[in-house]
Amino acid sequence: MQIVVIGTGYVGLVTGTCFAELGMDVVCVDKDKSKIEGLRKGIIPIYEPGLDAMVEANAAAGRLKFVEALEGVVEQADAIFIAVGTPTRRGDGYADLQYVYAAVDEAAALAKSGAVLVTKSTVPPGTGAEIKARIADKYPDAVLHVASNPEFLREGSAIGDFMRPDRVVFGTDHPKAEHVLKEIYYPLEDNSTIFATEIIAAEIIKYAANAFLATKIAFINEVADLCEAADANVQDIARGIGLDHRIGSKFLQAGPGYGGSCFPKDTLAFLEAGKRFGVDLSIVEQVVKSNDERKDGLADRIAKTIDDDLSGKTIALLGLTFKADTDDMRESPAINLVNELHNRGAIIQAYDPQGMEEAKGIFGDKVIYCDTAYCAVENAHALAVVTEWNEFKAVNLERVKTMMAAPNLIDLRNLFDPQRVRELGFSYSSIGRS
Ligand code: UDX
Repeated sequence: MQIVVIGTGYVGLVTGTCFAELGMDVVCVDKDKSKIEGLRKGIIPIYEPGLDAMVEANAAAGRLKFVEALEGVVEQADAIFIAVGTPTRRGDGYADLQYVYAAVDEAAALAKSGAVLVTKSTVPPGTGAEIKARIADKYPDAVLHVASNPEFLREGSAIGDFMRPDRVVFGTDHPKAEHVLKEIYYPLEDNSTIFATEIIAAEIIKYAANAFLATKIAFINEVADLCEAADANVQDIARGIGLDHRIGSKFLQAGPGYGGSCFPKDTLAFLEAGKRFGVDLSIVEQVVKSNDERKDGLADRIAKTIDDDLSGKTIALLGLTFKADTDDMRESPAINLVNELHNRGAIIQAYDPQGMEEAKGIFGDKVIYCDTAYCAVENAHALAVVTEWNEFKAVNLERVKTMMAAPNLIDLRNLFDPQRVRELGFSYSSIGRS
């Protein structure tokens, strides 16, 4: 099976590498020359545990190649996966499909007859039909089958998610396309469900899954607020409801609000898709609002612990990325927090194990960048844990306390045991726990 993957972003690079790992011949294509040159030398542009070794092994075995142009490789492909970005379009929140259509045009002009053109990128419902119409209009001689194969992998556990997914979903409208995709995913059949459906259903499944997970998080975050007011522990509530299999225990971790490259973007695009079909997705709308408000309220949580006056106070932040095990800062709650702390005149000292380079590009001189957690807490009037990196759990809190100007600890990820931290002399607040 010859596979071409267009786009070497998160999804494209992980997908291409994992297909190669499963024994297929894969060429990953990206217009970004420096990225491709780097990948050829084994330089991975993202931080994803295990990916570098897998790229190296498959490149060495000759199954994984990186090139800058489709011409010369796409002509042999049985399946062409489009994994380019679909960012939020300015103004209306809809997914910007310009990169998808550019990839479709290039592939349709060159691909062999009978090849399957698969959208891996998250695209709004109806995009597959639009791609078909576009090819029929612009490339009437091309015989291509269009398919949708949404990706559900999470950053930080992307390889495991790809190799052992709960399910693989693809949508097709031609037996040939279904056959090719079944063959590609055959190696995963033993440990996951392969679900073949219609193209538009596959497109909606991706948005509905992300919107549902975002809803779970927004929901437990609101329950956490209730727990804080009612003197209850949200972790007990999450466990108590999660033991019901109809609800499930996952994605019930209360925190500073969801971020990342998918939930914020896909919920907005889902809302816009609803509008286009004349349907009011009011639950999703409320989830977006609730999550935005949560992220905007983080600075208040910190201010509350130091008499509401942040001006001239030093605030230490541990973690800046939107979650642990990634260097990704996209839509991170830390962005709202840093901007608001800065607006209120705070001095911000921050440390993140992987996100410092990205953070520098976003925050510039709003933040003092520290090399360690201990450097970040020096003379701080409050310390907020923003990301749940494992290494923060092992921080020596006795030492931290002696280094701070005042022992205020705001744990936005519930990393620490309240009783233990208070016994050490901290004034401690966390999420949904008294
Ligand atoms: C998500 C989806 O999980 C994945 O299926 C899809 O393909 C891409 O989007 P990702 O963005 O990598 O993956 O991260 P995920 O682990 O889902 O977390 C998203 C956000 O939700 C993070 O900000 C995380 O901190 C937050 N979250 C997650 C919670 O606040 N509580 C939880 O219980 C789970």
